[in-house]
Amino acid sequence: MQKIIILDFGSQTTQLIGRRIRELNTFCEILPYNKFPKDDPDVIGVILSGSPFSVYDPEAFRIDLDEIRGRYPVLGICYGAQYISHNLGGRVEPAPSREYGRQHLTTIDLSNPLFKGFDEGSQVWMSHGDTITALPDGFHCIASTDSVKYAAFYCPADGSASSNSSDLNSIWGVQFHPEVFHSTQGTLLLKNFVVDICGSRQEWSAASYVETTVAELRQQLGNDQVILGLSGGVDSSVAAVLIHRAIGDRLTCIFVDHGLLRKNEFTQVMDDYKELGLNVIGVDASDKFFADLAGATEPEEKRKIIGRDFIEVFNEQARKIVNGNSSESKCRWLAQGTIYPDRIESLNITGKVIKSHHNVGGLPKEMDLQLCEPLKWLFKDEVRRVGRQLGMPEHLITRHPFPGPGLAVRILGEITPERVRILQEADDIYIRALREYKVRLSGDEARRVLAAGVPAEMSDGEVEVSLYDQIWQAGVILLATTRSVGVMGDERTYEHPVALRAVTSTDAMTADWAHLPYDFLARVSNDIINHVRGVNRVCYDISSKPPATIEWE
Ligand code: XMP
Repeated sequence: MQKIIILDFGSQTTQLIGRRIRELNTFCEILPYNKFPKDDPDVIGVILSGSPFSVYDPEAFRIDLDEIRGRYPVLGICYGAQYISHNLGGRVEPAPSREYGRQHLTTIDLSNPLFKGFDEGSQVWMSHGDTITALPDGFHCIASTDSVKYAAFYCPADGSASSNSSDLNSIWGVQFHPEVFHSTQGTLLLKNFVVDICGSRQEWSAASYVETTVAELRQQLGNDQVILGLSGGVDSSVAAVLIHRAIGDRLTCIFVDHGLLRKNEFTQVMDDYKELGLNVIGVDASDKFFADLAGATEPEEKRKIIGRDFIEVFNEQARKIVNGNSSESKCRWLAQGTIYPDRIESLNITGKVIKSHHNVGGLPKEMDLQLCEPLKWLFKDEVRRVGRQLGMPEHLITRHPFPGPGLAVRILGEITPERVRILQEADDIYIRALREYKVRLSGDEARRVLAAGVPAEMSDGEVEVSLYDQIWQAGVILLATTRSVGVMGDERTYEHPVALRAVTSTDAMTADWAHLPYDFLARVSNDIINHVRGVNRVCYDISSKPPATIEWE
């Protein structure tokens, strides 16, 4: 499959470049700056990302441009452009002040293929400390802003003097960030590069992914058995259905109920899985978890107990499957729903890897299982698309993320079955109300919802979606053991306060509190106080992340 390589020099927006290219139905890989796959015949173009470094920093990331130059079309973005210019004989200097924010391309060479279809004055987003003050020999300036003379450049590989030579193994550089939303024609620029210049056939789609992955899984897994830990979330569920399509009942899934799931979630999820034809072992281990959690109040202590118990229960089941297999059809694989953002080796300014994945880790070595991760190339919205392609029910696909330790991280203080019950009741009312309350969206908001694949009908330029589908994640938090005074039917009450949390986000790294309508909040507050025994007060959490986190513990 054709692919674009994005060499990551540590910019915060490198993942966004990947997202944009995938939206152009083109496969891409984000690799550390020094890991260019020299012998990969499928590479059709290379992008150099931005970076927090200046080209003059002693610890700045450096590559050998000869590995890529003249062999593939190359696009340098921000630091990538400065790096190319600096290394090929141009001049890069500190800008008089950091240039940050919106600017407009006051001159554009519209004959250059990179700017095909651009509008004069197109808005772009700048974020740089250095600036290019002289281009290397043979380079042409193809766009400027009022303050940045070399906002974009081009160097034809054939050395022609023309700024629109047809040799496509050339080099382009842009000082601005086409990948960010505020560069209004940024996607067009990336399309010009990826499709017209690199020659992408735009064949990356959910359907093609399912077809090729199922064939690869059949090849990879042969007659072996596979086990997979289901969490009820979208990633592990889609991975399970995909593997099941490839090898049928040779996949065994394990779903552990730690007693900290949402109300009725265990039975609902088990029913869903049965409907999907999956071979699932459901293990009710809630007594064990509650017994081990008794008396624990400190967040990290609670997490550790849950993590340890989870692995114990999972391993016990896995051992039965692994040991119970005949040698002809042995269980050799542990499947996981790891997705691409879990494993991209993003670089921070010290050059260290900043993300490591935490899934069902730590299976005992003697089980000798290899990892099978069929979603490891996909972003979250692509996983959802694959789920739809596989015919999975919409409520499974659009389910909000839910933390592994479940409601435990939403109960401050001690966890008891009674406190879990109160939280489950309140949470159930809140989540059902979010699903039922519909809002009408238009313009960019509507387009964004449709682009994310949310099945919504468009009429008169508007779409109707539920609040649930509009937000990233929501839940209720049971506040410490503290209670508060209230009054119900002339009687004094002394009961628990709960907080509602709802956030918008794209990746959970940063999040904003969702601006839920007042009439919605009023109704939910009423319903919770009237129906959940033990709750007499409802608050709404209006903190964003950072500085708060999404979960309270
Ligand atoms: P925070 O609270 O760190 O959460 O802003 C970011 C995202 O991660 C989820 N989360 C967890 N998921 N195990 C998980 O599998 C955990 O221990 C855990 N803690 C937080 C959280 O729900 C949010 O989506």
